[in-house]
Amino acid sequence: MVLPIFATVMANENTLQNIIAHCKEYGFIFQSSEIYDGLAAVYDYGQYGSELKKNIRDYWWKSMTQMHENIVGIDAAIFMHPTVWKASGHVDNFSDPMIDNKDSNKRYRVDHLIEGYVETLDKEKGDALLAQMDQLLAANDFAGLKTLIEDNKIKCAISGTVNWTDIRQFNLMFATEMGSVADDANLVYLRPETAQGIFVNFLNVQKTGRMKIPFGIAQTGKAFRNEIVARQFIFRMREFEQMEMQFFVRPGDQMKWYEYWKETRMKWHLSLGIPQERYRFHDHVKLAHYADAACDIEYDFPMGFKEVEGIHSRTDFDLKQHQQYSGKKLTYFDTELNQHYVPYVVETSIGLDRCFMMVLSQAYKEEDLSADGKEDSRVVLSLPAMLAPIKLAVLPLTKKDGLPEIARELIDQCKPYFKCFFEEKDSIGKRYRRQDAIGTPFCVTIDHQTKEDQTVTVRHRDSMTQERIPLASVRDMVMKAIQAF
Ligand code: GAP
Repeated sequence: MVLPIFATVMANENTLQNIIAHCKEYGFIFQSSEIYDGLAAVYDYGQYGSELKKNIRDYWWKSMTQMHENIVGIDAAIFMHPTVWKASGHVDNFSDPMIDNKDSNKRYRVDHLIEGYVETLDKEKGDALLAQMDQLLAANDFAGLKTLIEDNKIKCAISGTVNWTDIRQFNLMFATEMGSVADDANLVYLRPETAQGIFVNFLNVQKTGRMKIPFGIAQTGKAFRNEIVARQFIFRMREFEQMEMQFFVRPGDQMKWYEYWKETRMKWHLSLGIPQERYRFHDHVKLAHYADAACDIEYDFPMGFKEVEGIHSRTDFDLKQHQQYSGKKLTYFDTELNQHYVPYVVETSIGLDRCFMMVLSQAYKEEDLSADGKEDSRVVLSLPAMLAPIKLAVLPLTKKDGLPEIARELIDQCKPYFKCFFEEKDSIGKRYRRQDAIGTPFCVTIDHQTKEDQTVTVRHRDSMTQERIPLASVRDMVMKAIQAF
């Protein structure tokens, strides 16, 4: 089989805007409440976006709960007792240092302001400044951070001045009221992470599932953060979805499991077909209030390396806090050690939307197909077949001669197993391009020969090669290609 030669433009900084436009044009992602001019940093997933998102979620869920006998899933509520957030430390500590420009009144997250400035420097100077910033953040030295901003004359992007306020902490949780009487007792928060729903159910699951340490509890669901600097599309949103897993281990074993989950999660990322060089680990210098070790898995997004997933050794902090605040024992009896203890926890936490953006950035390609002086191009999403919103497009060559009926029969045969698409309008070339743009790995054309010999043309998305195969083998071919495990 000879593969066609074509030039590919990989996603880079300039293509981020193209990806955003593509997402809108092809029904992947829309701005929330767009007809009212949108709501900042909130997005809706369209017909293909919601399929892709669901497929990523399912793949993660399966890899955790089906491929690990000692991990089970739950689905906790978004609202939780307000004391949960006091115990977890979010009421007191879940805040970012912020600074306001006095001339524009624009508020910035301090680290983002400095990072933005670093992008304008050469690598050596930039790295030195980031190292200084990390040290000051780790020491909570707000005066030092302000001096750093002033000494480097870092300007507000709107006013262009360096007229800054002092740095203050700003809590990121959204609060609302529950019940009809508006007083403090009814204040509830929209959860800023799904993890706490797992901690408070730790004993429920352990006892009812007769789980033995080490074991994990996984969960996917919405989380909410009042992000101040919410930009870069779905990278930083105010309403987003997390896929988290808390792995409960013996005290003292946490570093072994931390390393295990670092490696296991990286393998998962590589299994998406994304090459190693587009990932890196970033160890945290400033540890969150609950962690004794933490790192991020970063992906090389169109705007540079950024966090997709966090792996955190959270010690026994959360369970001990909930034990103290609730007055209920949250210990585990280890029959091998003949000992009661509060387990330690290693957490893996990945943002579903960020993972979506990663998969999309990797898949998005603008290809120049010009040949023999004829200009041609296409945009293709080279998504892993298992994640593609539509797995198979069935395209009758014409609207007559019984070809649409054969196409419908094929779809009826396949649709219980995977998502299919039927289209009979426009030229085959145009129909292929539309399927390329949404990442459909296989297009099958039903033509007059199909009626004679029961064969069809399969066109492969990435190579654009075509082959003739028996109609009866189409379903199995697709099933094989979308097999995840
Ligand atoms: N339970 C631990 C936790 O929540 P985190 O590092 O704050 O840790 C985990 O968040 C992941 O959630 C991040 O790696 C990121 O993928 C995603 N995430 C966090 N904030 C987000 C936001 N505002 N928008 C989209 N995804 C976000």
